Amino acid sequence: MTQYKIPVMPGDGIGPEIIKEGRKVLDAAGERFGFDIEWLEYPHGADHYLKTGELISEDTLKELSQYRAIYFGAIGDERIKPGVLEKGILLTIRFYLDEYVNLRPVKLLEGVWTPLKDKTPKDIDFTVVRENTEDFYIGIGGRAKKGKSKKTLEVARNLYNIKFGLDIDSDSDEIGYQLGLISKEGTRRVIRYAFELAKDSKKHLSSVDKANVLSDIYGFWREEFTSIAAEYPDVKTDFNFVDAITMWFVKNPEWFDTVVAPNMFGDIITDLGAMIQGGLGLAPGGNINPEGTSMFEPIHGSAPKYKGQNKVNPIATIWAGSLLLSQIGEKEAADAIVKAIEQNIVNGEVKTYDMGGSNTTSDVGSDIARLLKEI
Ligand code: IPM
Ligand code: MN
Repeated sequence: MTQYKIPVMPGDGIGPEIIKEGRKVLDAAGERFGFDIEWLEYPHGADHYLKTGELISEDTLKELSQYRAIYFGAIGDERIKPGVLEKGILLTIRFYLDEYVNLRPVKLLEGVWTPLKDKTPKDIDFTVVRENTEDFYIGIGGRAKKGKSKKTLEVARNLYNIKFGLDIDSDSDEIGYQLGLISKEGTRRVIRYAFELAKDSKKHLSSVDKANVLSDIYGFWREEFTSIAAEYPDVKTDFNFVDAITMWFVKNPEWFDTVVAPNMFGDIITDLGAMIQGGLGLAPGGNINPEGTSMFEPIHGSAPKYKGQNKVNPIATIWAGSLLLSQIGEKEAADAIVKAIEQNIVNGEVKTYDMGGSNTTSDVGSDIARLLKEI
């Protein structure tokens, strides 16, 4: 029997409740398809931070980098200033492990209600490839008061090291600024990944940018896209401004097959994607380093107000578990999990409040684990 060791980081809020159900279903998949998962538990999140002062250490990151995949719940806690845990844990892991693809399927399952009138599962079925390490997420910027000041900004990565020395001379009362950057290496690898996906799908790749205004950064993105497109003559392509694509997602979702976007626009449009596929309770994501360690999580956050109530929908997390299995090569089990989720929804008997039911988080996890064994 194949043995896997998988680090699991349940995190904050509802994280532990949804991860418990995800593990239940992945363990059931193991029984059915002949593999065994040893879960390695990591305590990182708000409580751990308040107790020890540690967000996540270099040693822990090194340790995590030995594994193929990590299962992640959610982080964020009202006791801690917004951004501290998100940047200190989630983004730190994404960057350290160089998980340069954020893969977000936007797929309306059979039986799920969508707010888009007259759209069906065959209309809403595409994948967003969000760049996951660069753009306005690199985390450099600052504030400057009136007068002269200096600032050094640095981006230290495996891929490159970049330093900006700023000489500021300003007569505004005060400014706040943030630098975004994309690199040739970073852009090409994610666009190539998206072309490979599109090639194996409906051979259509849509690029997202705002090259009409932010032309230095996204004009560069377009040039790299065009250069890689030349290697894929069978894949049809188009460019979309980010504002316009939000409109098309609502009006003509059936147009899309694979969509590739810079980090921040990808973040924004995938929340919209989550809504048209039935809500955040149903939207999974994978932070992928194809050659290294990937991490799988629901798109939604830690929903502190529901913590401990066994109430929220575990489907996004269970689906993220399916993406995890697919990444480590358990394709059959991964597909069976999505089928079991769909069967649970079509049956319509065991569902959480967001889908109009009154069952608990664990009821839904158990039902999907049971259905999985019958598929
Ligand atoms: C997401 C989240 C994160 C992001 C936050 C929590 C840092 O919104 O995974 O989409 O912006 O990437
Ligand atoms: Mn987001």
